Amino acid sequence: MLEKFSGTVVHGLGKGKEFGFPTANIKLNNNELSIEKGVYAVVVNIDNQQYYGMLYVGTRPTFHLQEITIEIYFFEFNEDVYDKQISFQIVQKIRDEIQFQSTDDLIKQLHYDKEMVYIFFKHLPKTISDLLILNS
Ligand SMILES: Cc1cc2nc3c(=O)[nH]c(=O)nc-3n(C[C@H](O)[C@H](O)[C@H](O)COP(=O)(O)O)c2cc1C
Repeated sequence: MLEKFSGTVVHGLGKGKEFGFPTANIKLNNNELSIEKGVYAVVVNIDNQQYYGMLYVGTRPTFHLQEITIEIYFFEFNEDVYDKQISFQIVQKIRDEIQFQSTDDLIKQLHYDKEMVYIFFKHLPKTISDLLILNS
């Protein structure tokens, strides 16, 4: 089954915005994190609107950080989502977390991930995407 999670959108460090990948950081309602570190294709529901995105769960080893964060990059990012309740469903794991040698290497990978997730959703059979309708 596709597992569903819910939480609140909180502000991150704002670094992602500087390199073209702004993210919404998520504080889960249920603090028990059961998602393995990595990058995933997700369907998100905010105010009964559905969005597609990439979820990252990890410690951001590229920046030598230790605290686990949960971030979502939306294909159409909307600044107004801060402080809102969201729910999301993990549809597909894309890759494991990586410690990159440089920010440039991370950015290159993020562009590649974006392409992968875009293609993934584009080719998802309608029968499956119809099942992904979420209620908050
Ligand atoms: C789809 C996606 C994948 C990511 N993958 C990695 C990764 O493999 N390794 C890593 O160190 N950080 C990864 N990051 C985290 C970025 O380092 C993070 O977005 C950046 O530090 C900005 O964080 P901020 O929005 O809190 O400022 C990823 C972020 C996203 C959105």
